[in-house]
Amino acid sequence: MKSFIRNIPKAELHIHIEGTLEPELMLKIAKRNGVSLRFSAVDDVRKAYTFSNLPSFLSVYYEATSILLREQDFYDVTRAYLEKAHAQNVRHTEMFFDPQSHTERGVPFETVISGIHRAQADARQQLGVTSKLILCFLRHLSVDSAMEALKEAIPFKHWIVGVGLDSTEAGYPPEKFIRVFEKSLAEGFLTVAHAGEEGPAEYIWQALKQLMVSRVDHGVRCTEDAHLVQTLKARQTPLTVCPLSNVKLRVFDDIAGSNLKQLLDLGLCVTVNSDDPAYFGGYVMENLLAVQSALNLSYGDVCRLARNSFNASFLSEEEKQALRNELDVFCSNNVPDSIRSSNL
Ligand code: ADE
Ligand code: ZN
Repeated sequence: MKSFIRNIPKAELHIHIEGTLEPELMLKIAKRNGVSLRFSAVDDVRKAYTFSNLPSFLSVYYEATSILLREQDFYDVTRAYLEKAHAQNVRHTEMFFDPQSHTERGVPFETVISGIHRAQADARQQLGVTSKLILCFLRHLSVDSAMEALKEAIPFKHWIVGVGLDSTEAGYPPEKFIRVFEKSLAEGFLTVAHAGEEGPAEYIWQALKQLMVSRVDHGVRCTEDAHLVQTLKARQTPLTVCPLSNVKLRVFDDIAGSNLKQLLDLGLCVTVNSDDPAYFGGYVMENLLAVQSALNLSYGDVCRLARNSFNASFLSEEEKQALRNELDVFCSNNVPDSIRSSNL
């Protein structure tokens, strides 16, 4: 099962580029930029990674992000993630970035996106990994600040598939950002939003009805509202679930307490993702391994999760079909015969 999970073709749809900054690279870039951090060794950084909730994580995350200053820094962090993803047979990834956390510090939007885009182009050409970029607005900042980020993104529209909403959720309802999302949709961006991670099911409703999202990021608290579950199922609105993140940020006590299998069995379009892998102890493969063993997922469940990841992506129908075909070949060649007849 381990090699099956490593090698199955998959997409990742919920990953923050800034959350892929591993301590080794963080220290290297900080040194190169002459930025002092309160950590000097990799072990010290990792020791700081105990969180009690989302805000306690975000303060460490924004501090670490502050070492990113130059185009090459954004290239290096994106490139390192895409290499990791490639090693786990991620065939396609849709990555978030938080421009306000950089422009607020005086780093130009163009510097950020140029480094990321160059790494995407190289990874596509050299590794065969395709990727898309989603600009996330920070919900703890003002609507005006989000509007400003949107304005700065417009000249780079062709490099950005959509916009999202992240950062501290509780107390920052999606409806606060209606105007920004309306403008984003009018500019041709697709929309997604983090909702129902720490916030209530009501925030998922707002994301669907008011921000017109194509996917809900996390969304695990949907099970608190049966009508919402029915709606998500009927529309097949994807949920990008991040199991190790949910445990690290204490949404669930442990992986066995995750409702991922329940969501899958309810017929929702659920996917497995890593969120901020440098902080939460694993990339998409480690997330899949953790849920497979704790929730006793079958080969069929793992194939379903991989299929959902392609269906839920922003690829064209032709691109999705090509990846589903690749997945079908993989599954028919790699699911053990004894299991295929009884379990798939
Ligand atoms: N930014 C980075 N990771 C996040 C998460 N899990 N929730 C909200 N905002 C985030
Ligand atoms: Zn996230």
